Amino acid sequence: LAQDNVFKIGLILPMTGQQATTGRQVEAGVKLWMAQNGDTVAGKKVQLIVKDDASVPANTRRLAQELVVNDHVNVLAGMGITPSALAVAPIATQSKTPLVVMAAATSSITEASPFIVRSSFTLPQASVALADWAPKNGIKTVVTLVSDYGPGIDAEKFFKERFQFNGGKVTDSLRVPLMNPDFAPFLQKVRDEKPDALFVFTPSGAGAALMKQFGERGMDKAGIRLIGTGDITDDDQLNQMGDVALGVVTSHHYSTDHNSPMNKKFVAAFEKANPGLRPNFMAVGGYDGAHLIYDAIKKSGGKGGGEALVNAMKGDLFESPRGPIYIDAQTRDIVQNIYLRKVEKKNGQLWNVEFDVIKDVKDPGKTK
Ligand code: DHB
Repeated sequence: LAQDNVFKIGLILPMTGQQATTGRQVEAGVKLWMAQNGDTVAGKKVQLIVKDDASVPANTRRLAQELVVNDHVNVLAGMGITPSALAVAPIATQSKTPLVVMAAATSSITEASPFIVRSSFTLPQASVALADWAPKNGIKTVVTLVSDYGPGIDAEKFFKERFQFNGGKVTDSLRVPLMNPDFAPFLQKVRDEKPDALFVFTPSGAGAALMKQFGERGMDKAGIRLIGTGDITDDDQLNQMGDVALGVVTSHHYSTDHNSPMNKKFVAAFEKANPGLRPNFMAVGGYDGAHLIYDAIKKSGGKGGGEALVNAMKGDLFESPRGPIYIDAQTRDIVQNIYLRKVEKKNGQLWNVEFDVIKDVKDPGKTK
C-alpha cells in the first residue's frame, strides 16, 4: 500500500476509566489544532488514529505496538498517565518513532527514550514555585499528600526540598493509591496534625473528590490551608467544586483564565467545538503537541523518518495558549512559564486567577 503521501499520528489516551477526562481533553485539543490548521502539511495528508487504553499500561503498550507494526504510524502521541508513557518508551526507541507525551508529567519520562518529546509539563517544574511562595505567605508547616506513583513522588520530593531549604518544615508525607483513592482516613490524619497547610498532588480528574472531602471535614474552617499543583484545581472540574475551592493557591503552567489574546481565542474556539467543556491544561498539552508535530513535518519536509522529526522538534519555540514555550534541545522537555494562581469567583464562576509568574522554567528534575 503506497502511503508516501499520508502522515499518521497514533494517539493513545484514556477515553474510559478513571482518567477519562484527560483523554477527552487531550483529544479535543489535538482535534482543534487540526481543524484550525488543516489536514495537509508539507504535501502530506495527516491522519489521526485514536485508541483508548483506559490508562492500563499493558493496553498502552499493546496498542502502540499495533500502531507501529500494522498501521505504520509516523508518530505516537498522547499518554494520559506516567506508567503508560514508560510502557511505550522502549517501542519508541526500537522503532525510531517519535513519542509526543501530551499529558504525563513525571520528570524522568523524557529520559526513558531519545524519541520522547513532551508538550505537557513536569511536577518538579510546577511544585518549586509554590515552595517559594508558601513560606513568604504565613505557611511554616506543611503535610504533603500525593498520589503514590511517579508524578506524586516528584511533587512530594521537589516541594519538600525547596520548602525546607526556604526554612519551612514538612511534618508528614502521606501517599494515597492512584486507583480508587479514599482520601478520608488521610484527611482525618491531617486534621489531627493541624499543619498550616496541606500540599496536594492528585492527577487530573481526582481533585473534585478531594476538595469535597476537605470541605466536608471542615478542614478549611479548622484553619488548614489547601495548596498544591494546579492538577488539584483542574479547570475541567473547578466550576463544580463549590466555595470550598475559593482562595486555594496553586502553581501550574496553564489556567483557562490566562490573560492573553491567543488564549482568549483558543478558549472561545475550544468551547465552540466542545459545548459545555472548559479547556484545561490537558487540552493545551494536546493542542501544543499537535502544533509540535505539524512544525516537525514542515521542517523535515515530511522526509527522513523519526530521527528527522525528533530533531526538528528540538528547539521548537512558539506561543501557546499558556504563554511562550520551547523544547529544550538537550532534554527534549518543555520549558515554560509557571504561574501562581488563586481560585476566585468572577461572574458567578470559579477560575484559577494568575497573580505571579516565574518565566521560562526548565524542569528542575533533570540531572544533566
Ligand atoms: C500525570 C497525570 C495527571 O493527570 C496529571 O495531572 C499529572 C501527571 C501522570 O500520570 O504523569
